[in-house]
Amino acid sequence: MHAAGIVAAAGSGLRLGADQPKALVPLAGRPLVRWAVDALRAGGVTDVVVAVPAVERAAFAAVLPDDVVLVDGGASRTASVRAALAAVSGTVDAVLVHDAARPLTPPDVIARVLAALAAGAPAVVPVLPVVDTTVVVDDGGVITGALPREPLRRVQTPQGFDRATLVEAYRRLPAGAELTDDAAVVHTIGVEVATVPGDDRAAKVTVAHDLALAELQVGS
Ligand code: C5P
Repeated sequence: MHAAGIVAAAGSGLRLGADQPKALVPLAGRPLVRWAVDALRAGGVTDVVVAVPAVERAAFAAVLPDDVVLVDGGASRTASVRAALAAVSGTVDAVLVHDAARPLTPPDVIARVLAALAAGAPAVVPVLPVVDTTVVVDDGGVITGALPREPLRRVQTPQGFDRATLVEAYRRLPAGAELTDDAAVVHTIGVEVATVPGDDRAAKVTVAHDLALAELQVGS
């Protein structure tokens, strides 16, 4: 099986309070996007396409290996992945879609995703259990109900797909649709999405505290 990687890296970094795109923010001296690309490669995925903010293309090219393909991202994550998918070679069997915001994803997670695809899953995502009580609130913040915790999972990346399945799902997704991950995109055409165990170390860097934790994780 020949798998290619997509890294969604065209977000702004507003919630991180950074004055540059989040994917360029350094972790132990290395930009988050570089960590994400290196993680995919450590997991055996060598062909990588990165969706970047159009105005920052040169800055991304400066911190990534020369053989990484850069494409202009879009206004939403969905638009960015759509653009990157168009640049993935039609000869690959599978595509792993990863967030630049998950820099410390261990190779084991990538291996589990690849193994599930090789075993025939058309779509697979790494997940973690939900440990907190999870509730639904109304507009005023008042609890209106609680969700049973046992069947809930938190979804991580990279998410793996049979390439043709992902291409077809994006083709049928209305232009302008905004979904928060790619499992949701293939779900819209009825594809069954399998799960494999994720890893707490693959946590998403969203706010400054997440970056501080990631710095501790790499021991810098
Ligand atoms: O905003 P959020 O943290 O959910 O973004 C997840 C990933 O999607 C990040 O790595 C971000 O760079 C990427 N993204 C993107 N294009 C956008 C918005 C987010 O590639 N327009």
